[in-house]
Amino acid sequence: MLFQSLTASTLSANAQLARENLPWIDGVELRADLLSAVPPDALGRFPQFLESGTHQRSVPVILTIRRRRDGGKYDDDEGKRLRLLQHAVEAGNFSFVDLEEDLSGSGSDEEVRRAAYKSGTRVIRSFHSFDGTGGDLSERLARLSALPGEIPRIAVEPRSTSDLLQLVRASLQARGERIVAGMGDYGFPLRILSPVLGNTLAFCSHSSAESAEGGVDPRTMQELYRYSTLNQSTAIYAVIGNPIMHSRSPAFHNSRFAAAGMNAVYVPIKVDSVSSFFELAGELGMRGVSVTIPHKEAVIPFLKEVDESVTAVGACNTIIRDGEGYRGTNTDVDGFLTPLAHRASKKWEGGLAGRAATVIGAGGASRAVIYALIREGVNVCVLNRTESRARAVTEDLSPYARNASLTWGKLGHPEGNNLLSRHSDIIIQTTSLGMHPDTDGDPLPEYRFHGHELVYDIVYNPPVTRFLSRAAECGCEVIQGGEMFEGQALLQAHLFQNAYRMRSS
Ligand code: ATR
Repeated sequence: MLFQSLTASTLSANAQLARENLPWIDGVELRADLLSAVPPDALGRFPQFLESGTHQRSVPVILTIRRRRDGGKYDDDEGKRLRLLQHAVEAGNFSFVDLEEDLSGSGSDEEVRRAAYKSGTRVIRSFHSFDGTGGDLSERLARLSALPGEIPRIAVEPRSTSDLLQLVRASLQARGERIVAGMGDYGFPLRILSPVLGNTLAFCSHSSAESAEGGVDPRTMQELYRYSTLNQSTAIYAVIGNPIMHSRSPAFHNSRFAAAGMNAVYVPIKVDSVSSFFELAGELGMRGVSVTIPHKEAVIPFLKEVDESVTAVGACNTIIRDGEGYRGTNTDVDGFLTPLAHRASKKWEGGLAGRAATVIGAGGASRAVIYALIREGVNVCVLNRTESRARAVTEDLSPYARNASLTWGKLGHPEGNNLLSRHSDIIIQTTSLGMHPDTDGDPLPEYRFHGHELVYDIVYNPPVTRFLSRAAECGCEVIQGGEMFEGQALLQAHLFQNAYRMRSS
C-alpha cells in the first residue's frame, strides 16, 4: 500500500493534496506537526472531511504528530501532544496513529492506546534515525514487532550503501507486518522496493522538490515504477553511480519492462562502496545492473566473468546475473558502433572495414570507441591534447588491432593534422568539448571539413554540438551522441530481458 505524506500547513490544503493524488495512492499520513494551527476537533474530523470530497472512496488516514528530535516540527509540551493525539483518535475516524518507540513501556501513551483500541485505530510504533542506521536494525525491528497488535516502523536516513544494505537485511529478515523506510538519496531504493521487501506500506511525498532528497511523488511511483504491481516475486534491476538521482536510465528501462510485460523493476542506487553494493545485489538477487560513473572500472574485480569488450576497454557498463555470480559486458562498444555501421554500409561498399578514422580524445570514453573501430577493421589515428595519453591508449589497445592499424598524434599540431588528413573518412569526437554548459567548445577549430567525412560526436547534451553543426554545414553526414546513448541502453534492455526470460522459464 502506498501512503502519501500530507505536509501542507492547513487541513484544507492537505485534503486538496490528497484528492489530487487519489488515483495513485491507497492512503495518507497527516503530519499534524506541520499544521500552522491545530484545532483539536477539526483534527479529529479530518478523515471524514477528506472522504466527503472523494466520491465516497474510503481513504485510510495515519495521524502523526512528529517531534522535532524525530525530524518533525512539534516542539511544544509532550503532555499536550499526547492529549491532542488522544482527543483526535477518540473521534474514531483515523485508521492508524503513529506513536514513538520510546513511549512504549513508559506508560505515557496509555490513554492514546486505550482510545485507539476503542475506536479500532491501529498503532504504528516508530523509530527514527537521521544519523545512519543507529545500531542493530534487525534487533530493533524484532523488538518493535513483539508489541501485540502494533505495526513496527523504522525510518532511517542511510548515509552509505552499507547502511542501505542493513536496512534491506532488516526488512528481509523480519516476519509479519512492518514498515522499513529509507530517507535521502541512499534510501531511495527502499521506497520503491518496499513491496518487494515484504513491507506493509510505504510513503511518498507530493512535490517534485522533495524528490531531490530521496522523496518520490505518487504519480511517478505508480506510472514509472509501477508500485502497485510490485510484489515479492518482482525481479530487481538497478543503475549504480554517484551521483545517480538524475539518471535517465530508470525511465528508459522501466517503460521497456512494462511494455514487455515483465514483473521487474529498475531502481537508481547511489553507491559509495562497490563491495557493499555487491553484497546488496546478492541479498536482493538482483538480475541486472547498469554501471555508470565512477564505478565502471571498480566493478570488474567483483565479476566472475567478463567478455573481451570489458577487458579491452577496461570498463564495464552492464552486469548480468549468471547462476550464483555476475558477468560483465560493455554495451558502449556496440551502442557506439550500431549507428556508425549502419551509415557506413550505405556510404561505402564493404562498410567500415578498411576505412580510416580519427578519434579525438584519449579519455575513458575514447577507449570503447577505439576498440569498436579496430575490431571492425578500421585504421585508427588517436589525436589528443596530451600526447602521452594518446600513446598510452594506443599501446593498451594495440593487441586488439588484428586487422587494422592504430597510430597516435598530438591534437592541433602539424604532425597531428597530417595524420588527420590521412584518416578522414570518419572523425569521432570523444572529449568533453562542446558539452553543456560550455557549448562553444570545439576540439578542431582550425579544421575545414571537406564534406566527404562521416562525423560523429559522442556528446549528447546539446544534441548537436558546435563541432557537429560545422560539419553538417559543410555537407558532412553527422551522427549525434544521443544515438550512442540510446544504442547502449537498448542493447542493455535486450540483455536484461533475455536474463529475465532465462530465469523465469
Ligand atoms: P572521459 O572518461 O569522459 O573520456 P576523461 O578521461 O577526463 O573523460 O577524458 C577527457 C578527454 O577530453 C581527454 O582526452 C582530454 O584531453 P587530455 O587528455 O589532454 O586532458 C579531453 N579534453 C578535455 N578538455 C579539453 C580541452 N579543453 N581541449 C582538448 N581536449 C580536452
